[in-house]
Amino acid sequence: MTTLHDFTDPTTLTDDALRQHIAAELDRARQRTSALADAVDEQDLVSQHSPLMSPLVWDYAHIANQEEIWLVRDVGRHDAVRSDIDDMYDAFQNARADRPALPLLSPVQTRGYVAQVRDKVLDVLNSARLNADPLTQAGFAFGMVVQHEQQHDETMLATHQLRRTGPALHAPTPAPDRATGLPAEIFLPAGGFTMGTSTEAWALDNERPAHEVQVDAFFLDTTPVTNGQFAAFLDAGGYDDERWWSVGGWAHRHRANLSAPLFWFRNDNGDWYRRSFGTVLPVAADEPVVHVCYYEAEAYAAWAGRRLPTEAEWEKAARWDPDTQRSRRYPWGDADPTPVHANLGQQHLRPALAGSYPAGASPLGVHQLMGDVWEWTSSTLSAYPGFRPFPYDEYTKVFLGSDYRVLRGGSFGTDRAACRGTFRNWDYPIRRQIFAGFRTARNAGRA
Ligand SMILES: [Fe+2]
Repeated sequence: MTTLHDFTDPTTLTDDALRQHIAAELDRARQRTSALADAVDEQDLVSQHSPLMSPLVWDYAHIANQEEIWLVRDVGRHDAVRSDIDDMYDAFQNARADRPALPLLSPVQTRGYVAQVRDKVLDVLNSARLNADPLTQAGFAFGMVVQHEQQHDETMLATHQLRRTGPALHAPTPAPDRATGLPAEIFLPAGGFTMGTSTEAWALDNERPAHEVQVDAFFLDTTPVTNGQFAAFLDAGGYDDERWWSVGGWAHRHRANLSAPLFWFRNDNGDWYRRSFGTVLPVAADEPVVHVCYYEAEAYAAWAGRRLPTEAEWEKAARWDPDTQRSRRYPWGDADPTPVHANLGQQHLRPALAGSYPAGASPLGVHQLMGDVWEWTSSTLSAYPGFRPFPYDEYTKVFLGSDYRVLRGGSFGTDRAACRGTFRNWDYPIRRQIFAGFRTARNAGRA
């Protein structure tokens, strides 16, 4: 049984306990960042492995620069450590493709800067008045910085996947409990549910506020679409059949010459393999497909006679409890994720087989909504009714509009600090270096 409070809720902690919780989360994020950077040599850190990505050393220093701006300067009101490098590490001022040409800090300088900022942040954490204003309410600014670092760690992980040299990261193959004999799809009844949150302490501006949304009855895939299912679309000539593609998708499919998920290739016998973190793996039929763009997901769904779920449908499936009619934090309840619930936090470097983590399934039996692969939804990034940009417009407001599609649920590379039932990720519909897959839905029609 889960209850409302079997998780660390920053709003319920004493100041001392909150400081300890924040320090532990900051440290956990930094250990991951350091491991991702230390896994490769200096040359590898400064190289650009793909024009889609920054050199790893840019992300590394950018993490510290944001931490400095938000915690040392804004919360702590201390002098700048290095205001001279703000522009260089401003994501809005420098496109990823241009970042290698900047006079970036060297790896040695970066490590020094990162450590210097963190020392000052720990001083700020010890002396700052918490719960003094919206920025420090339940340690929000610190929580935002933790999430920012963990999100960049996932970006760094995607850069690792794009490296063409040998393996640098290692993790066991996921081997969780796995349910078999699951139905292909789950029925979600019509009705309203509470979407978004007004109570999750470290939820970001775009997840707020909680609001009621009506959802028609629909069916949702029990698990993410697997490699085997996706290969059937390939084998059926799906990439060459305009009927399944949207206008934008078909144009992109030709422009980018898409013919299979990113990193897939056939061997001489015609069997599918995929490159994964410097190794080559056979494409596992029962594993969720990953590294497909929105347009590929959309085309597969059309071929299957289905569609992608909306963001509201996805969140209802992930949070709505039919017994209590309440929206919970996760499919399994309110408890923070553990390794029995979901494949999160880079414990593994690939998704787990479809049907895994039965302890993490929703009350109605939808599996693997959290972790494994980000799931494309059909929704563009919109503001919830009552949305207020906080603490700065650049977090969400500048991204609102039709250019982006929302992804939900997190991947094997997403930390639990940056993943919850309300968490919204977004990207361009052509992107596929991210750890994204999908599941499909269909209208239930009138009974
Ligand atoms: Fe950033």
